[in-house]
Amino acid sequence: MSDPKKLFIKTYGCQMNVYDSERMAEALGGSGYVQTETADDADMILLNTCHIREKAAEKIYSELGRLKGLKTSNPDLKIGVAGCVAQAEGQEIMRRQPAVDLVVGPQSYHRLPEMEAKTREGAKALDTDFPEEDKFEHLAKRPKASRGPTAFLTVQEGCDKFCAFCVVPYTRGAEVSRPAERVLTEARDLVERGVREITLLGQNVNAYHGAGADGDWTLSKLIRELAKIEELKRIRFTTSHPNDMDDDLIAAHGDCEKLMPYLHLPVQSGSDKVLKAMNRKHTAEEYIRLIERFREARPDILLSGDFIVGFPGETDQDFEDTLALVEEVRYGQCYSFKYSTRPGTPAAEREQVDEDVKGERLQRLQALLTRQQVEIQNSMVGREVGVLFEKQGRLDGQLIGKSDYLHAVHVQAPTALLGTVARVRISASSTNSLAGDLITD
Ligand code: 5AD
Ligand code: SF4
Repeated sequence: MSDPKKLFIKTYGCQMNVYDSERMAEALGGSGYVQTETADDADMILLNTCHIREKAAEKIYSELGRLKGLKTSNPDLKIGVAGCVAQAEGQEIMRRQPAVDLVVGPQSYHRLPEMEAKTREGAKALDTDFPEEDKFEHLAKRPKASRGPTAFLTVQEGCDKFCAFCVVPYTRGAEVSRPAERVLTEARDLVERGVREITLLGQNVNAYHGAGADGDWTLSKLIRELAKIEELKRIRFTTSHPNDMDDDLIAAHGDCEKLMPYLHLPVQSGSDKVLKAMNRKHTAEEYIRLIERFREARPDILLSGDFIVGFPGETDQDFEDTLALVEEVRYGQCYSFKYSTRPGTPAAEREQVDEDVKGERLQRLQALLTRQQVEIQNSMVGREVGVLFEKQGRLDGQLIGKSDYLHAVHVQAPTALLGTVARVRISASSTNSLAGDLITD
């Protein structure tokens, strides 16, 4: 038997790409590929790309420039670009970097085996269609091998919201939800393979409306059904839009024990004028009221968010409004970005804020967000939390896991506890993690 071919996948961007990379590796498994951790010995390199900000897209071209050199020592090496840059730029990628053999958009991953075969015949392969068929149904069946205790599961893709800054509606297309039964089957398979925590993914995951035998299901109905899988201990979901929250999803945070007390709910700005210009279709006040409802349902819930500074038209006062919103909400963890013009999106055509101003605002916002993060992390000391152990630590006898609130926690604990949720008392807080002791009674 010939040696298996080696596949190296480098993943950029969001968790949906992490999930897609797994599925692509499985799809190419059928063509005789096994995954390798380095580009150097690979027969196929796939960059699974992100187009959300200009920097993310430019990174791909510099990476491709580096990788093409590997073809000198390995003429059989094939280089592919997948993901959102592939969708947005298609043929242009091969023009800019002729070493690229394959370009595949996020909706066509099930066609990868045929595309790979085509490259082996010396041809280029390009597919950025939005095909009729459901890629998930046509993707290789997930193998039965055991795996780590946490997994992502994409349940919804695409976005119909058209925020004025965002490429997602163009790169990932319209909102589509996977049928509920298929999601449940995949979840049960994952749990059989050792998964104890599932994070449901979607660009607009709370807009989930997958078909079920009794009509469309909401995200909360899906979560409640998943919670019945006994060996599944934890459920999370990301990313949500404030306007798609419904009463039952809020209630589930109070009464569904397996749904973790952590919510990523981006608001982007605290200024009503900017929110309107962004086409977010809600006010700062409405967002804050929504957060209050979550806190009523689950008082210890930890909030996470995304912010953009320097959106076209953002004044000093608008930015102050963002800081005021952050002060009011108190986030446990956040992502914040300078506005980046994306070709083809409405805001790209507007008058832009000065780069230096963006830089200063980002610094001020990040200082505030970091302070809140540290304060909340420090306030965990002395508290009892659940920790799902994911891997061994560097110290002897140490395991590392994630708390209910998604903090990394280091604990002295027997290896037998890997893949289980233990009760832990937090004893110390450092820059990016917590330490704790097992509660044994
Ligand atoms: N510029 C800067 N940040 C952006 N995001 C999306 N589009 C842009 C852009 N053009 C941010 C938003 C979003 C997160 C995934 O990325 O905050 O929630
Ligand atoms: Fe990046 Fe958005 Fe594509 Fe995810 S969906 S990879 S964040 S552009």
